Amino acid sequence: MAEDPRQQQHFGKQKKYHTQIKHGILEKTLEASLSIANWLCKNNDSYIYMDLYAGMGIFGDGDTGSPLIALNLVNKFLQNNNVKFKNINFIFIDKDHKNIKSLEHQVAIFKSKNNHPKINIETKAGEWESFHDHIQNNISRDKWGFIFVDPFSTELKIQKLQKLKIGLKDIIVFINYSTLARQDGRKYETDVSRICAFLNISPEQYKNFDNDKFIELFKNSIIKNYSFFNKDFSTFAAIPVAVDGKLQSGDYFFLALLTSSLGVADAFLTEYAKIRSVSYPQTSLLADLSLEGHILQVISEHETISIYSLISSLYFNFISWKQTEEKELPIKNNIKNCLDTLSMLGKIKMSGPRDYFLKKENRKLLSTTFSNNQSMRDVVINKI
Ligand SMILES: C[S@@+](CC[C@H](N)C(=O)[O-])C[C@H]1O[C@@H](n2cnc3c(N)ncnc32)[C@H](O)[C@@H]1O
Repeated sequence: MAEDPRQQQHFGKQKKYHTQIKHGILEKTLEASLSIANWLCKNNDSYIYMDLYAGMGIFGDGDTGSPLIALNLVNKFLQNNNVKFKNINFIFIDKDHKNIKSLEHQVAIFKSKNNHPKINIETKAGEWESFHDHIQNNISRDKWGFIFVDPFSTELKIQKLQKLKIGLKDIIVFINYSTLARQDGRKYETDVSRICAFLNISPEQYKNFDNDKFIELFKNSIIKNYSFFNKDFSTFAAIPVAVDGKLQSGDYFFLALLTSSLGVADAFLTEYAKIRSVSYPQTSLLADLSLEGHILQVISEHETISIYSLISSLYFNFISWKQTEEKELPIKNNIKNCLDTLSMLGKIKMSGPRDYFLKKENRKLLSTTFSNNQSMRDVVINKI
């Protein structure tokens, strides 16, 4: 098989800036996913971690790739926690046999240092789509888990991912808008078919769309395709790109998070918020609204809405790191602060059968309201 020049570029030297950010977010989100699942699971349950585009396991400068990040994290987790899981299973897949060989070498080094009896690791060379049944059997066997989908550019055919019944597993998908926009500029038949496969649209739908609004076609198609997974908290967060050490102005790369756990979603956004430590004044292609503005907009679209549905609606959106200050992200604490302010200003009314989720004296929310799904469903909001 001819070597993909992107392999050289990607793994051949230092980790790129956006890869570092992607790995940081992956690590924190996986850590939350493991802890929450370990808390909720029964003693015989297992957890599965799947990396469908696993890569070589190591970069040229010795820095770790995503499979080793996950293994090291789980190893630490097993040592520091009261772990109920029977097993933590890993499946790493890469279509490139050379990458899998390199990864197997890294896994062997890991095992020689940390041979934990609860950890099982399997590697597979080939396109993940060709292992559909094997992947499905493993996902169905283990109730809890995490799936990392990290293609270089537009290799992912979302319909193939939709065929997997993923149950409670959390997912992160890397989405490369940059390549897609470049392909859109060219419009050769091969580019058209790649765009259509990636966005899951017909060539007619593509041709009928106004060229200047490709970002809209992209956003609409992504929202539609990812709604399919039926997760309560899904978001599409732009991550910054640097070329020769210089930050670029566009929103080129996104991380999609799909989860039904607010704790996992919170961990993702809390790590994401750290990107703001790099200040960058330029505007973005994505719409901007303050968190309070978003909350009021969603509430006014409903007669009454539970906190749970409100947060779910706030999530299903694209976020740009350039415009989104930490306090504007739909993290639990920020939502609580906004709702309390709106309630004090008399713009909304919060109530519920279980009033103990609201402080008696000023009807502010108690933090415990956010600690389980039922209490977030119990408190409802009306616009005044
Ligand atoms: C961006 S790299 C992965 C990087 C890795 N996840 C990390 O963070 O260290 C993408 C990888 O996907 C592999 N790949 C591309 N299409 C694939 C497919 N259909 N199935 C499995 N692997 C694929 C490529 O060989 C490449 O190694």
